[in-house]
Amino acid sequence: MVKAAVLVSGGGTNLEALLKAEEEGRMPSLHIALVIADREAYALKRAADHGRRGILIERRAIGMKRFSEELLKTLSENGIQMVILAGFLSILPETVIEAYKDRIINIHPSLIPSFCGKGFYGLKVHEAALDYGVKVTGATVHIVNEIPDGGRILMQKAVYIEPDDTAETLQRRVMEEAEWIILPQAAEMIAKEIENESR
Ligand code: GRF
Repeated sequence: MVKAAVLVSGGGTNLEALLKAEEEGRMPSLHIALVIADREAYALKRAADHGRRGILIERRAIGMKRFSEELLKTLSENGIQMVILAGFLSILPETVIEAYKDRIINIHPSLIPSFCGKGFYGLKVHEAALDYGVKVTGATVHIVNEIPDGGRILMQKAVYIEPDDTAETLQRRVMEEAEWIILPQAAEMIAKEIENESR
């Protein structure tokens, strides 16, 4: 069983989808042992409601250098083997990316390579899709490397844009119909790969 940490910054609906997937037996190869927030986040309450350990490491209060040190120390002290970014808004320190090479996954709310990279997060992604006039968008789970949203794509799921969509209605549907489905599936896929490597 692979021990995973989920890194969050916001409401934690993707975290909720992961916790439910684990509890319903849809992620047999991993256990979400820890939730780490880089700021006060409702996601920490969701962790507590599911009996999981939540830790707040306030990046803005301690600065990037201390944040990197604290994050890496917390992950290794808890024996974490894989990291899942779920609505995490800080740039992940190089030291963490190196320590967990090919073992960090991220959910991005578009079909990469569209509407991704620096500055594309949260509602901004859906505003850009609507502004461009694309008919199909969706979500992507990818391996995290040093390039923002640049790592190997693991899974994608398409969502049709509807004529009366706003950024808010589109965000909600992409979360419901794509993010919350492919993130647990991709997490299980990587956890299985990690387990097979260690055999
Ligand atoms: C959402 O915009 C989602 O698309 C992206 O992060 C934001 C918050 O997600 N992955 P969550 O509700 O905190 O999981």
